[in-house]
Amino acid sequence: MKNDFIPVSNPKLKFLSRKKEILKITDTVIENGMYILGNEVTAFEKEFAQYIGVNYCAAVGNGTDAIAIALKALGVNVGDEVITVSHSAVATVAAIEMIGAVPVFADIEEDSRCINPSKIRDLISSKTKVIIPVHIYGQPARIKQIISISKEYGLKVLEDCAQAHGAKVDNQLVGSFGDAAAFSFYPTKNLGAIGDGGAIVTNDGSTFNQVLAIRQYGWRQRYISDFSGVNSRLDELQAAFLRIKLKDLDDENVKRVTIANRYNSALSSLGFTFPKVISDSYHVYHLYVIESNNRDDLADFLKSKGIGTALHYPLPIHLQPAYKGRIKGSDKLFETERLYKSILSLPMYPELTADQVSHVIDSLRKWKELRG
Ligand SMILES: Cc1ncc(COP(=O)(O)O)c(C=O)c1O
Repeated sequence: MKNDFIPVSNPKLKFLSRKKEILKITDTVIENGMYILGNEVTAFEKEFAQYIGVNYCAAVGNGTDAIAIALKALGVNVGDEVITVSHSAVATVAAIEMIGAVPVFADIEEDSRCINPSKIRDLISSKTKVIIPVHIYGQPARIKQIISISKEYGLKVLEDCAQAHGAKVDNQLVGSFGDAAAFSFYPTKNLGAIGDGGAIVTNDGSTFNQVLAIRQYGWRQRYISDFSGVNSRLDELQAAFLRIKLKDLDDENVKRVTIANRYNSALSSLGFTFPKVISDSYHVYHLYVIESNNRDDLADFLKSKGIGTALHYPLPIHLQPAYKGRIKGSDKLFETERLYKSILSLPMYPELTADQVSHVIDSLRKWKELRG
């Protein structure tokens, strides 16, 4: 086992562990002949809303669409400003611009690596409509502080939960705090489909009805568009797969935490900077991201030992060619700019064996011994 390459993530193993059921339901769905917005999607929406602890869930084509559709449903119009972070998947910002809204960047905190609530107020203008905290790597943002700021200024909060299925603050699941939340079911996510998928959850009935209309051409009644919408629907097969995988989510998150705890204790004795454990929150370690000021050398060394690593992300959004020099707030992202140069994601997925984790830890120790 030690000699097999250990990738950063490995969604195929999840499929293999449920292969029989997945192939069986594939057959059933295909035989049923109802392929778009059928029983599987309806059942998944109900089960996922129940899991998160909210009233409503609408499944859509992917997580990027989920953010864009949710923003529209929350009343964001062309030219309105949305405060978020540059330390995220580019999808967060692509979604804002998809609907003609304007992203504004706040810096992140060193501890949580999520939006720093104390940096939000200075960025609020008469055009600001929504704050999007991203629960990055599976670590919840300071959601309660963010919500109290939003209330002070009459803004809405859309949680980007693409990396945080099952994460909690004070025992309450992320996705149930904001006015709405967006999830991605990209295959490597803690809850991943076998293809693209996404969902919007909310407690508010009118936001939910807007989402339902926007995801299908602005229809409230079939074939009659009340306003212009899009086509973004989760398909029946993906919904069926997600229903099977949802049953395992909590157990798998516990496995991620167990692996993270082993990494944490080894890395603290080796003097690496590793993810901080924030006292009121349950981190679900979508990614396990360490910091090293010699991370490229470390990545090469680990690769030579058969261990994959990755950068999430190699460049913050405000430094990428598409966005450089044009996003408000980009000149004050000091922590964002410090962090990205040193991050390195280590292998993290529930099926990692104890031996594989030991191999990663031993290799980190060897690198430390060699490089000091
Ligand atoms: C933080 C974040 N937001 C949004 C998305 C978008 O999700 P998707 O890839 O399903 O469009 C992702 C996933 O890539 C993500 O990591």
